[in-house]
Amino acid sequence: SLDPYHVSDVFGFILPAPLTELPPYYQPWMDIAQHVTELIYSHTLRSHILKMPLLNTRFLESHRELRLAHLALSVMTMGYVWQEGENDTVKILPRNLAVPYWKVSQRLGLPPILTHADAVLANWKKRDPHGPFDIENLELLVTLPGGDSVRGFFMVTLLVELAAVPAIKSIPLVINGVQCGDAETVTSALEEISQAMEGMTDALKLMHAYVKPDVFYGIIRIYLSGWKDNSSMPAGLVYEGIQAEPMEYSGGSAAQSSLLHCFDELLGVKHEDNCGAFLTRMRNYMPSSHKHLIQDISLQPSLRGFVQQEASELLTAAFQLCVTKLMALRSYHINVVSCFITVPAARARQLRRQGNSSQEETVSRAPTALEETGTGGSGIMSFLKTVRDRTRDVSLLIP
Ligand code: ALA
Repeated sequence: SLDPYHVSDVFGFILPAPLTELPPYYQPWMDIAQHVTELIYSHTLRSHILKMPLLNTRFLESHRELRLAHLALSVMTMGYVWQEGENDTVKILPRNLAVPYWKVSQRLGLPPILTHADAVLANWKKRDPHGPFDIENLELLVTLPGGDSVRGFFMVTLLVELAAVPAIKSIPLVINGVQCGDAETVTSALEEISQAMEGMTDALKLMHAYVKPDVFYGIIRIYLSGWKDNSSMPAGLVYEGIQAEPMEYSGGSAAQSSLLHCFDELLGVKHEDNCGAFLTRMRNYMPSSHKHLIQDISLQPSLRGFVQQEASELLTAAFQLCVTKLMALRSYHINVVSCFITVPAARARQLRRQGNSSQEETVSRAPTALEETGTGGSGIMSFLKTVRDRTRDVSLLIP
């Protein structure tokens, strides 16, 4: 069972039924967090945060309270740092934000920056509580500049997580099947996994319907970016009241989703060098119980070795279909990045060359530091292509 890992049968890694309110004592946070977008547009978010009281975190009790607090403090922090764009950042996160943010982060085992676990996994509610879990019936709890496109970006990512649930539930079946030498069970569980992977790719396709590339590139991305491997925040950020030295944290990245880490460990996909180091580091940006699931999958006897040893046509075909579908998902992700980053970046460069550096076109408002770098700090295209190629390496020939 996946319960000990805080993974739900219905929702997978998604936080089931996130709270929408904190205890009333924390209203000063929520009053700002729920208006971050307007406060950024009016250039007053920083001054509001500077006037906020320093609240004690000890009245936060449940996991869901902590997750909502982390989400709220995260959007405030991203807005505080990036309110004036890449050229007028800050060196210090003020104490009344930094101290509680640090404490809440410690209790959750999350870093003090906006992560996938915040913006996607814990940032949803149903409009009609009895209605379906689909995009028209879902709303964000807190948002950032970018309007419908920011909602679309987080929601489509949430739907990819949901599409993966049948695969996550099948992982223990695969592991048990390998342990008992039950090739039939392993085969059918792998078939379920490959089908869910295809569903994830189909969900990812919705990005094109719900997110405008120019808005994503020109407006949204900066608020997802961090203060590590980012040339516009080279020194990191001082969390005032925590330590005098600045600290570096990476911005949001799909590598913070536990899904592909689980699949890679199950199938035996190995990532090396920079890519491997980045992926390993991103595990510290996940809720700790999800990170433990990935680690426990990695400690199991090799599935691929079992498949080779059994030399069954059906089993090998089922394994290979997982490899193929995982590569297809990664290839589709590359396609999404080219539409939402590479193409708008080329347009922004062209406008600069023409001396049109005004902000008339949305893409021109994008930070130059993120032209070839993902918001998580990776060299985005070479990273994604290398990771896909390492997936291909575990392919097996069907006997
Ligand atoms: N990591 C994605 C980007 O680079 C969100 O924009």
